[in-house]
Amino acid sequence: MDNSPVILAFCCHYCAYAAADLAGTMRLQYPGSVRVLRLPCTGKIEVNYLLAAFERGVDGVIVAGCLEGGCHFQEGNLRARRRVERAKQLLKEIGIEPERLEMFNLSSAEGTRFAEIVSEMNQRIAALGPSPLRHSPEHVEHAIEELRENAEKAIAGEQK
Ligand code: FES
Repeated sequence: MDNSPVILAFCCHYCAYAAADLAGTMRLQYPGSVRVLRLPCTGKIEVNYLLAAFERGVDGVIVAGCLEGGCHFQEGNLRARRRVERAKQLLKEIGIEPERLEMFNLSSAEGTRFAEIVSEMNQRIAALGPSPLRHSPEHVEHAIEELRENAEKAIAGEQK
């Protein structure tokens, strides 16, 4: 891992994850420092997941869910937006720029939009510099793997 910002993208399985896949199939260029973490719905996100990602040293977090009105779990994406706003307030209170966290809505067909979102956030986070909580690259990689395993378990639970 170099000095590029480490960005974690919590992506809904039905839209943003598919859009990320599509961006890959379309061979669109976007910063490779983003780590995609698939969730059954952004409504699964709790404020503490978002804070845990920062605590573990990532520089920025994207939450990407279905378009408003398009969530497969009705209001999951609206719930996620409220939690993102709450997490932003808490980040501010502990001295971390709330701009490091952002929620986006997109459809599964928007591979190009996904690549734009990642590039936009990468630029924004690079301008802010490394997170004050940045750990060693190995620590961050390990933490991301741990978060990914937890997300996979959530999906497995959802599919039972
Ligand atoms: Fe995509 Fe809820 S199913 S945000």
